[in-house]
Amino acid sequence: MERVHNNKKYFIETYGCQMNEEDSEKLASFLKGMGYIKAEDINSADVILFNTCCVREHAELKVYGNVGRLKKLKEKRPEIIIAICGCMMQQEGIPQAIKKKFPFVDIIFGTHNIHRFPELLQNALQSNSTIIEVWDKEEEIIEGIESERESDIKAFVTIMYGCNNFCSYCIVPYTRGRERSRKPEAIIEEIKQLASKGYKEITLLGQNVNSYGKDIEGMSFAKLLRMVNEIEGIERIRFMTSHPKDLTDDVIEAIRDCEKLCEHIHLPVQSGSTKILKKMNRNYTKEKYLELVDKIKSNIKDVSITTDIIVGFPGETEEDFNETLDLVSKVEYDSAFTFIYSKRKGTPAAEYDDQIPDDVKHDRFNRLVELVNNICERKNMEYKDKIVEVLVEGPSKTDKSKITGRTRNGKLVHFTAIDESDLKGKLVNVKITQPQNFILLGEYINTIR
Ligand code: 5AD
Ligand code: SF4
Repeated sequence: MERVHNNKKYFIETYGCQMNEEDSEKLASFLKGMGYIKAEDINSADVILFNTCCVREHAELKVYGNVGRLKKLKEKRPEIIIAICGCMMQQEGIPQAIKKKFPFVDIIFGTHNIHRFPELLQNALQSNSTIIEVWDKEEEIIEGIESERESDIKAFVTIMYGCNNFCSYCIVPYTRGRERSRKPEAIIEEIKQLASKGYKEITLLGQNVNSYGKDIEGMSFAKLLRMVNEIEGIERIRFMTSHPKDLTDDVIEAIRDCEKLCEHIHLPVQSGSTKILKKMNRNYTKEKYLELVDKIKSNIKDVSITTDIIVGFPGETEEDFNETLDLVSKVEYDSAFTFIYSKRKGTPAAEYDDQIPDDVKHDRFNRLVELVNNICERKNMEYKDKIVEVLVEGPSKTDKSKITGRTRNGKLVHFTAIDESDLKGKLVNVKITQPQNFILLGEYINTIR
């Protein structure tokens, strides 16, 4: 790539999930390859890129608000380039609507053609009109795109793209296309490279990682996990997201057997009511989910289970909601992302005529959050005086006097040590002195390696 933009700066704002974060890291790498450097703030950037999400309406509204605010900046500095990409752009009519509403936007592209960004940027630098290039269908996976990663200890590695599940509320299958697995050799090579650069923790990413390898002869997710476990230098392996209908015994066994696989499963339940789960097209019942959780807990010691829950899905009665509360109490999640159902145009559930009023949704949401937080707090209190293994990430962003990292099962730990200078990237033992709702506070004991 031509390095023609020395000292020019870029700013990327990412909305939504880890898949978008990973795409942004690739887009940052393109910009770096062209000679751009990262800007400290949006006002000093020469290229501003919004990587958007449309999973809920709230995320979309934020994008509209933030892009709208750039009008003044563009008037003051017309030479800057404003680009918008990501899931929102894959929805019918949105690119045209953005162009009309915000004519000062220079480039609009989608999730399937991020590799085209360098060329689109070159074109935009020589043009005054909005360039729109959105592919409506996914193509073959393009390998070899570097990522400019935020951390030098932990890395996301996408193992598959797209989703075939069509949960009735969800827009993702329409914006990210059908499931495609990366070749195991490409994944292993990327992780070996990361290990050689000093990375210690890998998170394997996909909308439904349990489907990994279904499109590759002789491959499965459990096999991939065992292969990654063999890579020298990597200390910890995580993965997300698991669909309960596809989480097979061989994956549970792999976590039990492989020392690098962390004891944490993110297992979105969405609802505790079998009736609602059916309407959501989730393909499991409340009972089946609870059986799966029992199996996970009895096979994997100290496992933490986290989840995603939607309240106020069309047709959800008080009884259905109570089933969700009951399930949450039974599973005792270590943490849960809770969402108010948001109507997404183009999904089946948006057409259902039994939508739930906003005040009911909010009331249920508040009750659910209270229960989730109580359980999370109670579970954290059990860590008092325990010694846990922490992978050190560096000084805490919120409290510079503390060092931060996570336990194997994903709990955030802030701790104090006399000399923190050489702990980054190390595995250390920390004694938890003061568990709090969302953080465990502790003291350094010793370095493991
Ligand atoms: N409304 C609310 N939450 C949603 N999610 C996906 N689609 C919607 C929607 N329309 C949530 C699900 C999913 C998480 C990433 O976002 O809980 O697991
Ligand atoms: Fe959306 Fe369901 Fe696919 Fe997850 S599994 S991305 S919720 S359709």
